[in-house]
Amino acid sequence: MTITSPTVSDEQRAREAELVELVRRSFDGTPNERLKTLLSSLATHLHAFITDVRLTEQEWSAAIDFLTEVGHITDDRRQEFILLSDVLGASMQVISVNNEAYGDATQATVFGPFFVEGSPEIEQGGDIAGPAAGEPCWVEGTVKDANGAPIAGAKIDVWEADEDGFYDVQYDDDRVAARAHLFSDADGSYRFWAVTPTPYPIPHDGPVGRMLEATGRSPMRASHLHFMVTAPGCRTLVTHIFVRGCEYLERDSVFGVKESLILDFEEQAPGTPTPDGREVDHWRRARFDIVLAPAAATQTSNVEVTS
Ligand SMILES: [Fe+2]
Repeated sequence: MTITSPTVSDEQRAREAELVELVRRSFDGTPNERLKTLLSSLATHLHAFITDVRLTEQEWSAAIDFLTEVGHITDDRRQEFILLSDVLGASMQVISVNNEAYGDATQATVFGPFFVEGSPEIEQGGDIAGPAAGEPCWVEGTVKDANGAPIAGAKIDVWEADEDGFYDVQYDDDRVAARAHLFSDADGSYRFWAVTPTPYPIPHDGPVGRMLEATGRSPMRASHLHFMVTAPGCRTLVTHIFVRGCEYLERDSVFGVKESLILDFEEQAPGTPTPDGREVDHWRRARFDIVLAPAAATQTSNVEVTS
């Protein structure tokens, strides 16, 4: 979409174009070719935005105030810039660009801010919930490569919110809950107990939350269970599985939902035996078969601009 103002004269357009060119050329001497491309393109698109919407000085000032506030609220535990990137769909677009479609490879989605290194290892059929409250849910599937060959020993990290919509790291009691990792069997299969995912809001008590409110958008994320699957020679898969029927599938606040990742979390009739004989009143089950792309399908960059 291009917004054009009929009141802008050719002379004015020429002045604006001249400035863009001047800024672009200022990067001509950048030794790193990739950095030169990034900054030159950024200047082009940023100036196109400013001139397309005929940005007022008050609006630009408000934008700078907003970004300043995003910086001020950010600390070790709160990353408002990632939230901003998420709600603008930028995070999802970067993931899409870097996880190009490859055969039947499982689609990637946003990583999110709640992954923690060093989660507990569980055996096949173990329970990731720990002290997390929620409806028990049996999750099973296979990990295969793009040729359909099972992958043994793939590391499967899983994490999710509890039934109140909180990850363990959002509590201040150092609990470890609803996160674990396990390894696929020789035939690529895996299975574990989790809790049925429920919707939760992204943190919305800061500037990003205000932006969502001002635009009539919900901070809610569709119910999901996070996966990160790694195996030698394969592209690391970071994804979620989503609960079919969740009311937020169509308006996930970070645009993370992909149709192929929406699964049936089948409610089991009372008395239905569980796969491992565990006795629970009510439970669900979901099946998620994972296909990993080859590692060669991953993009890399040599740009380094931080010290
Ligand atoms: Fe999440």
